[in-house]
Amino acid sequence: MAVLTVQNLCYGYAKGTPFEKAVLHDVCCTFGEGEIVAVIGHTGSGKSTLLQHLNGLLKPDSGDVLLDGESIYRSKAALRECRFRVGMCFQYPEQQLFESTVRDDIAFGPKNQKLAADEIDRRVKESLAYVGLRESYADKSPFDLSGGEKRRVAIAGVLAMEPEVLILDEPSAGLDPAGKKALLKLITDYHAQTGSTVIFVSHDMDDVAEIADRVLVLSKGRAVMSGTTREVFARADELLEMGLGLPEATSVMLRLRHEGLDVPTDVFTAEEAAAALLAFARKGAGV
Ligand SMILES: Nc1ncnc2c1ncn2[C@@H]1O[C@H](COP(=O)(O)OP(=O)(O)OP(=O)(O)O)[C@@H](O)[C@H]1O
Ligand SMILES: [Mg+2]
Repeated sequence: MAVLTVQNLCYGYAKGTPFEKAVLHDVCCTFGEGEIVAVIGHTGSGKSTLLQHLNGLLKPDSGDVLLDGESIYRSKAALRECRFRVGMCFQYPEQQLFESTVRDDIAFGPKNQKLAADEIDRRVKESLAYVGLRESYADKSPFDLSGGEKRRVAIAGVLAMEPEVLILDEPSAGLDPAGKKALLKLITDYHAQTGSTVIFVSHDMDDVAEIADRVLVLSKGRAVMSGTTREVFARADELLEMGLGLPEATSVMLRLRHEGLDVPTDVFTAEEAAAALLAFARKGAGV
């Protein structure tokens, strides 16, 4: 069952000005309940613009966004409910940190939800722990934090609302390998514990291969491909043509195949590559 459905969505920035720019063209896609969906596409393909429609931050020029089958734009109350149910972490965390302490920033959403003070307190503490920040961070100014810490506080602020749909726009951009790994674990842990739907944008195809159930590919403002992660990465030639990368493991197998080795190329993670190469070596050795 689809939790979010995008119907024939068209959107352009700066409508009616000389700077008018059509960005999304007739986009149709669905996001199933409990799925982890990766949105990929070249820079400027419209990923962030599409995501900002999923909780009503932008309004389509035409088309619609449905949450549980009903338009999120049908009334102010529906839009407000959508903002509570669909939590959005922006591409640039600075865009969503504006309070003078980390505590107030994380508490902002739950306060808007009119939760009781002790519940808000619990959520602030829990969310900080969830993103791996000590409780002492609560009294710091978000503006004194490093880029990685700001991102974690921004994510904590969204998690504190306990959203049914968690949207993350390039959550691992700019993080070091350890930070990236921790972030992917955070996403999969949240998903496993809550059964929430997760939608994330990434330029890192290894991250996509590791955690996504499904992939949506945008190209020049159009949804050009969608399917299970295996189905999408199996279309390597088309992805490369669009200027997109492939998981490292897939690239290695394609290269070996190019060199004349009869190895499978529907391999997307390091574990799968290791198993496939082991099987290949055993076959060659006749064991
Ligand atoms: N606020 C804005 N005003 C005008 N044009 C914009 C605005 N935001 C984005 N655009 C333009 O819309 C197009 C799509 O931008 P968008 O940010 O959605 O792409 P993206 O796929 O998220 O790219 P990236 O991978 O670089 O984050 C780009 O051409 C961009 O320049
Ligand atoms: Mg973007």
